[in-house]
Amino acid sequence: MAHDSFLAPHSPAPHAGPGHDSRSERHDHSGHGHGHGDGHGHGHGDGLQEILDLDAEVTAAHLAELTARVAELAGEHPVNDILDIGAGTGTGTFALLQRFPAATVTAIDTADEMLSHLRDSAAARHLADRVRPLRADLDEAWPTTGPADLVWASSSMHHMADPDRVLRDVHAALRPGGLLAMIEMDRMPRFLPDDLGFGTPGTEARCHTLLDEARAAHLPHIGADWPSRLTAAGFRIVESREMTVDVPSPLPEPAIRYAYATLSRIRQSVADRLSPEDVSTLDTLLTRNGPQALHTRKDLRVTSTRAVWLATHS
Ligand SMILES: C[S@@+](CC[C@H](N)C(=O)[O-])C[C@H]1O[C@@H](n2cnc3c(N)ncnc32)[C@H](O)[C@@H]1O
Repeated sequence: MAHDSFLAPHSPAPHAGPGHDSRSERHDHSGHGHGHGDGHGHGHGDGLQEILDLDAEVTAAHLAELTARVAELAGEHPVNDILDIGAGTGTGTFALLQRFPAATVTAIDTADEMLSHLRDSAAARHLADRVRPLRADLDEAWPTTGPADLVWASSSMHHMADPDRVLRDVHAALRPGGLLAMIEMDRMPRFLPDDLGFGTPGTEARCHTLLDEARAAHLPHIGADWPSRLTAAGFRIVESREMTVDVPSPLPEPAIRYAYATLSRIRQSVADRLSPEDVSTLDTLLTRNGPQALHTRKDLRVTSTRAVWLATHS
């Protein structure tokens, strides 16, 4: 698994948010720039799991629309065996189980803590009998999964050391007529206006510039030419879509928690490279109290775009 300074193991994010004061915890979890783990058996930390779960809540309608389109494209082809590769906490797994009531999902991930979180969520939703968590590092070898009707790969392919090999393995795992749904984040979620009314405008943009630099250094396949790679692996792209997430103010409560969790984790990742003024701006936003605290602001908005490719055997 390639290293990602934002979406990779490092110390737990401060559990900032309404009712939680990030200042009181900051000293224990001050920014580490980026972790040095490779994700094999290391903790992703609750911060990332919380972000993934909140992302699932905030984008639920978009995911439902996407899985509906997948069902349309599957047509008469039954969708019973699904692989969710790099499943994380199960965002795709649970959306797909809802869309395809006869299906079972094999949720593959290299991180034990992701799989145990996913297993707990499946039990809480009374879906344990339809989910098979499978610990496998897809950089090592394709696991024994059996043939699949649908493979779902969301924000995971760019983590692979050799995504071309993984795509060929996905191709081989799909039954004739089966589909691959691949999603990659074009634009990481953003929440803040440029001018916050205090500090130098552009704090969030500067954070993202630093994050993008780190991601480009550690994840060489970020922003790859995925259509060409899909074609080279033997796929025919039947549809390319963009998933545009845009939730305006006033944000619903899960979206506010999503903003806290994401900006807290960003702070951890970039604090050592950010100006003291920008760190202080983030801290003012992430605190529980005060007129600038995230949850009291009237100008929060969630925006993010993801590229989606739906593909089948050529
Ligand atoms: C950004 S998360 C995406 C999780 C989920 N698919 C979603 O959309 O919310 C990427 C996931 O891919 C997993 N992953 C990264 N490299 C992997 C590998 N080589 N084999 C299996 N899983 C991997 C990580 O552990 C992580 O859970």
